[in-house]
Amino acid sequence: MLEIKNLSVSVQNKTIINNLNLKIEKGKKVAIMGPNGSGKSTLSNVIAGKQGYEINEGQILFDDVNIFDLDPEERAAKGIFLAFQYPVEIPGIANASFLRTALNSVRKYNGEKDLNTREFLDECKDLSKKLKLDTSFLSRDLNTGFSGGEKKKNEIFHMLMMKPKLCILDEIDSGLDIDALKVISNGLFQYSNENNSLLIITHYQRLLDYIKPDEVHIFNEGNIVKSGDYSLVETLEEKGYQEFI
Ligand SMILES: Nc1ncnc2c1ncn2[C@@H]1O[C@H](COP(=O)(O)OP(=O)(O)OP(=O)(O)O)[C@@H](O)[C@H]1O
Ligand SMILES: [Mg+2]
Repeated sequence: MLEIKNLSVSVQNKTIINNLNLKIEKGKKVAIMGPNGSGKSTLSNVIAGKQGYEINEGQILFDDVNIFDLDPEERAAKGIFLAFQYPVEIPGIANASFLRTALNSVRKYNGEKDLNTREFLDECKDLSKKLKLDTSFLSRDLNTGFSGGEKKKNEIFHMLMMKPKLCILDEIDSGLDIDALKVISNGLFQYSNENNSLLIITHYQRLLDYIKPDEVHIFNEGNIVKSGDYSLVETLEEKGYQEFI
């Protein structure tokens, strides 16, 4: 589904992603762990199309199309979703309106009709309940005044409503309480199937215990320094990053 080839990215002449190669196959759950500042969020942002990065070399292919030729909204319409490490507050825009606009834009791009409002709201309410998210969140301004954990839950709510092909989750577990982590992890586990892929960036074992990734990569200084299966998470928890960097 996603293939990153020889990718090098810099900001203000500082190299942050350094000749990275990574493949994410359809149906796979892939985890990236790595020390603070190693370039994990930069990688997520570059895949999603955030401006402000210099792409010095390489390609990112999504379903065999080089996405550097596509705007962020086109990437989203093709099925790439990024749950932000730091979700943005947008006062004056209601959560549900934002989500409905996003969904309808994607539908329009793919030649589908706008959503029926009633069906959309019913689906929102249904999913809110499953995620134990109070339905008052739907009418509140996007992320405005939400607690840290509520923002993260709202990101997952949007993701599950958008039904993307590639879900990039940048530290979705930070700030979640123990019960919320269970609810979110279950939601992700159930969403995952042979037609979509998850890229999970995390510092902690607990989320991965629930999600059971197929592959784990350790990231340092903008590249993968070690790859393995789930057992790598346990080794990391025991020995720390020093063993690998
Ligand atoms: N716009 C920018 N201007 C200057 N430096 C930047 C910019 N964006 C990223 N960096 C630097 O690039 C490096 C990688 O940052 P990034 O946010 O990708 O790290 P990370 O692996 O996600 O870390 P964390 O685990 O703390 O979230 C850091 O040293 C950061 O300061
Ligand atoms: Mg980060």
